[in-house]
Amino acid sequence: MSGAERSALIDRLSRSGSKGVLRFITCGSVDDGKSTLIGRLLYDSKLLFEDQLGTLERDSKKHGTTGGDIDFALLLDGLEAEREQGITIDVAYRFFATEKRKFVVADTPGHEQYTRNMATGASTADAAIILVDARKGVLTQTRRHTWIAHMMGIRHIVLAVNKMDLAEYSRTRFEEIHGAYRQAVASLSFETITPIPMSARFGDNVTARSERMDWYSGPALLEFLEDLEAGSGLAGQPFRFPVQWVNRPNQNFRGFSGTIASGRVQRGDAIVIAQSGAAARIERIVTADGDLDSAGAGDAVTLVLDREVDVARGDMIVPADARPDVSDQFAAEILWMNEAELLPGRSYLLKAGTATVPATITTIKHGIDVNTFEKEPAKSVALNGIALCNLSTGRPIPFDPYDDNRATGAFILIDRFSNQTVGAGMIRHGLRRADNIHAQAMDITKTERARMKGQKPAIIWFTGLSGAGKSTIANIVEKRLSSAGHHTYSLDGDNVRHGLNKDLGFTDADRVENIRRIGEVGKLFVDAGLIVTCSFISPFRDERQMVRELVGSDEFIEVFVDAPIEVCMARDPKGLYRKAQEGRIKNFTGFDSPYEVPESPEIHLHTADLSPEDAAERVIAMLRDMGRLG
Ligand code: ADX
Repeated sequence: MSGAERSALIDRLSRSGSKGVLRFITCGSVDDGKSTLIGRLLYDSKLLFEDQLGTLERDSKKHGTTGGDIDFALLLDGLEAEREQGITIDVAYRFFATEKRKFVVADTPGHEQYTRNMATGASTADAAIILVDARKGVLTQTRRHTWIAHMMGIRHIVLAVNKMDLAEYSRTRFEEIHGAYRQAVASLSFETITPIPMSARFGDNVTARSERMDWYSGPALLEFLEDLEAGSGLAGQPFRFPVQWVNRPNQNFRGFSGTIASGRVQRGDAIVIAQSGAAARIERIVTADGDLDSAGAGDAVTLVLDREVDVARGDMIVPADARPDVSDQFAAEILWMNEAELLPGRSYLLKAGTATVPATITTIKHGIDVNTFEKEPAKSVALNGIALCNLSTGRPIPFDPYDDNRATGAFILIDRFSNQTVGAGMIRHGLRRADNIHAQAMDITKTERARMKGQKPAIIWFTGLSGAGKSTIANIVEKRLSSAGHHTYSLDGDNVRHGLNKDLGFTDADRVENIRRIGEVGKLFVDAGLIVTCSFISPFRDERQMVRELVGSDEFIEVFVDAPIEVCMARDPKGLYRKAQEGRIKNFTGFDSPYEVPESPEIHLHTADLSPEDAAERVIAMLRDMGRLG
């Protein structure tokens, strides 16, 4: 490309976009021709550099499936693996422009297990192009993609009926598919559904109208996209400013920095801090290029208030007269993205805007079959599954329902140990019951109760395989504490499972709930001023960590009662290992249910060569060393 051509191109790029950027996603299965379509859009909008074209022609000869013609699918410089396997395996964002506007297209894969990538691309998109092969018609995949687009708040759908060249450019076939699609998605509300018959391979109705389908009077795809009135809608929403950090370079300046999630703010506006309700006015809107009078969605600014109020990272600055919900309980649709299933009761980290809080899914209300859009009963959610859930967070967070505000109604869930994103959520609504439950201040406090008993309350948590010696050691520990004048209580797996937890079995989900309840009960006993021994297999790290956080790290003493499984089997005090070996018990820990070894317990007891008395003595000695026995 010559210098003049290049500068003409750059000029064209910078002039384009008077209509604003349009973001869209393309969804289709592997051979619906998705890559070819995107390639065609990029190619025909003539915004490719010549050297790129050269590569394309060479590549088409090497890899192409179109016998010497330019293979547009190869335009997409996706992963090598994609070329080799003929599938797309990650979200790739591509940019192109026409004279009217700029486009960002998220190319998302069509493989079943890659639903999550689609959701990633969809969360910011204005429109979704749902590709259908004219020969195959509406497939399960088509319905699934449409549902996700709907769930992610996309308002415009283009039904691209592709490969019309292989269906004799038949109007009847096109109308049949359009009719079937309308019927399949009738329960979902979109602002527009626009069907376009096309052949991406030959360019029919992609960038220009096709003469081969003169029965079609609608727009070509690109024309339609150029004219679509879109936009995230965030600019028109109420002002939302999640505080990223408190900017205090010196005594004279205190501002709150972050990016405006939605709406506009002006100097002088009356605001409140969503969580605390503390009120103030905006005194300055500071940016790297000087002060502004007003700023809007997407702008990175530092706000200075006209008085001192308590603000921390994770707080949200909002208009006094248009506040978001603030709650620690809400209902949300969750798209699960993790190999390990979602378990109610397990604690995850929830990140919404700039706030990160511990959160649990308290109930799965129902799963959603993405093929039929029907509700289905669910006790857990597997990879790529979707469920409507109730969540509870460690402290209240500000949010808007996702339908009102895509920026402040979405969150992700993070695994505490691996730090990986395991789920994406869209908040539907706050739970009213949270509004009516308030912490009641008590006159007699935990400190008071502990003082009366003359001790430091704590949970001594024994974890380990069945038969490792947890209950035996805990029993001796309690006896010694009690004869030294301490006030104690003991919670034990077999006992609690006869009462409070008699509705629970031994599936992963039930074990999580078992420990969650024990944790809450243990916390109440600690609040009562007692030293509590808890003996539970408690096989999962996550739940032990959750109890630790619930009661506070210095009051949680984790004792790993460690014995090799062979030793436990030889002891077999309840004859359960024999039953497990004979296949008469399912999900037995150490057999067909896992035990996650503690990584840094306060005390590690090897009970294969330590008597229960000596083991108990080690626990007492440790408590004394920690200063817990006064
Ligand atoms: S936990 O995994 O949820 O923490 P918990 O400590 O309450 O287990 O209960 C374990 C006790 O239940 C064992 O000591 C054993 O007596 C009994 N039990 C019955 N079935 C099982 C099983 N499948 N796996 C483990 N323990 C079982």
